[in-house]
Amino acid sequence: MQHNTFIGGYGGSSPRQTEPNEVFRSDTGAGEPGSRGIELSGITKRFRTPDGNAFTALRDMNLTVEPGQFCAVVGPTGCGKSTALTLVAGLDRPSAGTLRVGGTPVNGIASGTSFMFQTDALLPWKTVLANVAMGPLFHGVPKKEAHAKAREWLRVVGLSGFEGHHPHQLSGGMRKRVSLAAALINEPSILLMDEPFGALDVQTKAIMSNELLTLWDQTRPSVMFVTHDLEEAIALADRVAVITAGPGTVKAVYDVDLPRPRGAVQEIRFEPRFLELHQQIWDSLREEVERAYARTTSIPEGEGS
Ligand SMILES: Nc1ncnc2c1ncn2[C@@H]1O[C@H](COP(=O)(O)OP(=O)(O)O)[C@@H](O)[C@H]1O
Ligand SMILES: [Mg+2]
Repeated sequence: MQHNTFIGGYGGSSPRQTEPNEVFRSDTGAGEPGSRGIELSGITKRFRTPDGNAFTALRDMNLTVEPGQFCAVVGPTGCGKSTALTLVAGLDRPSAGTLRVGGTPVNGIASGTSFMFQTDALLPWKTVLANVAMGPLFHGVPKKEAHAKAREWLRVVGLSGFEGHHPHQLSGGMRKRVSLAAALINEPSILLMDEPFGALDVQTKAIMSNELLTLWDQTRPSVMFVTHDLEEAIALADRVAVITAGPGTVKAVYDVDLPRPRGAVQEIRFEPRFLELHQQIWDSLREEVERAYARTTSIPEGEGS
């Protein structure tokens, strides 16, 4: 377990930075490739409940994602994982604490940040090509160029030939690929993922995980990947942060010292080091899962006999 201090890194400062593949080189100005770290320091988030009380979703959360690092965040349902990601995305503000991306305080949605959620954020009335081209178009890239880039990204994610389809004409896995292309076309330096493959069947999830790792390896954005699936977290990440049952705070951070490239996620989970890490992290996570579960099944005071 190790908490690193934050290094505000820019450009090629990450030791893991690799030469970008031709496809990933930006000439659009639509996002700044390169590495930026994420730093949550003493983050507390309170919500107002319908009865007017304050509900604390996150309490004093500290987490650092180094530039170019892949950090998985695991914790029981309702512990505040999505809330934390929403704050990093700049979609909401913390009630207390400091939040920095690339050394700069987060103040609204920053350029260079892409998201991927569990539900596909695709527009059903637009074609696959139009969905993927939206990012560059939004950033002022001329339509012809944006479409050419979208075609290239669809090729990268294995969807050449489906440009004219609409999202409902695709399988769940294919829609995820479109979402991935739509997120990566902006060449983000920060990639925020909230259980992106949670709704997929096991095999498709494994395929998507492998594809994500391959693509991430070529540009190395800093990733915050929220999941409740510990196997997925270990297979993908450099570090795994365990969040406590709500109010969420970081209980422990584990370095995943499995070599990269990881190879197929379906196979790495049988390696001795993987099993060791799984055991160690699960010991920590299990307590929180049990605590969260006990709360949902406990009989509120005054209601038992
Ligand atoms: N906008 C909101 N208003 C009130 N409560 C919220 C809001 N968003 C989340 N919560 C509460 O905060 C807690 C953490 O939610 P969330 O971050 O979605 O958990 P997770 O993603 O870990 O399952 C939950 O109890 C949830 O009900
Ligand atoms: Mg969530």
